[in-house]
Amino acid sequence: MTKFSFTRTAQDGRARTGVIETARGAIRTPAFMPVGTAATVKAMLPGSVRETGADILLGNTYHLMLRPTAERIERLGGLHKFMNWERPVLTDSGGFQVMSLAALRKLTEKGVTFKSHIDGSKHEITPERSMEIQRMLGSDIVMCFDECPALPASRARISESMQLSMRWAARSKEAFGDRPGHALFGIQQGGLEEDLRAESAAALREIGFDGYAVGGLAVGEGQEAMFGCLDFAAGQLPEDRPRYLMGVGKPDDIVGTVARGIDMMDCVLPSRSGRTGQAFTRRGVLNIKNARHADDPRPLDERCGCPACRQYSRAYLHHVFRSQEIIASMLMTWHNLHYYQDLMAGMRDAISANRFAAFEADFHAARAEGDI
Ligand code: GUN
Ligand code: ZN
Repeated sequence: MTKFSFTRTAQDGRARTGVIETARGAIRTPAFMPVGTAATVKAMLPGSVRETGADILLGNTYHLMLRPTAERIERLGGLHKFMNWERPVLTDSGGFQVMSLAALRKLTEKGVTFKSHIDGSKHEITPERSMEIQRMLGSDIVMCFDECPALPASRARISESMQLSMRWAARSKEAFGDRPGHALFGIQQGGLEEDLRAESAAALREIGFDGYAVGGLAVGEGQEAMFGCLDFAAGQLPEDRPRYLMGVGKPDDIVGTVARGIDMMDCVLPSRSGRTGQAFTRRGVLNIKNARHADDPRPLDERCGCPACRQYSRAYLHHVFRSQEIIASMLMTWHNLHYYQDLMAGMRDAISANRFAAFEADFHAARAEGDI
């Protein structure tokens, strides 16, 4: 079996490019992971997601444990077979989703109990249970069970929460055990405080992980604060392991985080906003619902090679969106995921060619021109 490995092939400033090898295939970095929360990237067939250029998908412990349950997915041969995606899958560990979605949450040293947002049934996730669920799913990259306080929070609260997450990280590692071909990532916490981030990074390095995530960002602090935090947080994590920024973000967030040394990210934005009519293009965001597109024979983005842009006009997309036709969600999601993957490929090429600064300048210049 292929061992999990990360090879950096080039670095330009703090931006890195390379490849993560897993038993289920290679992940080119920087990598954007489309979100397939409920064992599907909504409105897309897995083969279509692959055609956009995705090497890896993200799945969610929280949703899958509630429905259809990890036990059922395991009986049916694991998540990859269940959802017909044979390439790598990374699963989030559940705690973050419990805090944002579940009712009657109770946090203790042991873990978290909560009521399902689907049917009100009672459940518990501990670090040990999270590792068990992610093993039953067959996840290739398993995330530590962590906790992330809602911001704004006091420094004392952020510090206590981070320390709990570090104790949970040690329990996650212990429970994960030795699983050749599968990787376990630690998650750094500590809010926006440099010393707490450093303390968290030191605790994770001491335990030792295959990769390191930056958690607790993109929770309402704004881009400037997030970039400011990444300016020190990324460098606190081992240089020779993948660095994953969880839950980010908009295209300009992504470019800025890659510039700060991040290798992987995930976000619902391209898929979710596709379904609400927002398209990301080289010239910024447009809303296909807008009346100005009703007679427009041009594609969403002249330079995009996706089926929505090669085969359909803005006028058609406007019409099917207004008519609430299912194909509107399909085409808009396809385009947005394709755009995100093009953006990642462009950054990988630019880093390899030592022209990342020029790439960034072009990226911002095209957006400044606007959609005309
Ligand atoms: N997704 C976005 N942020 C986080 C985080 O801090 N922890 C986890 N587990 N998932 C996240
Ligand atoms: Zn397109």
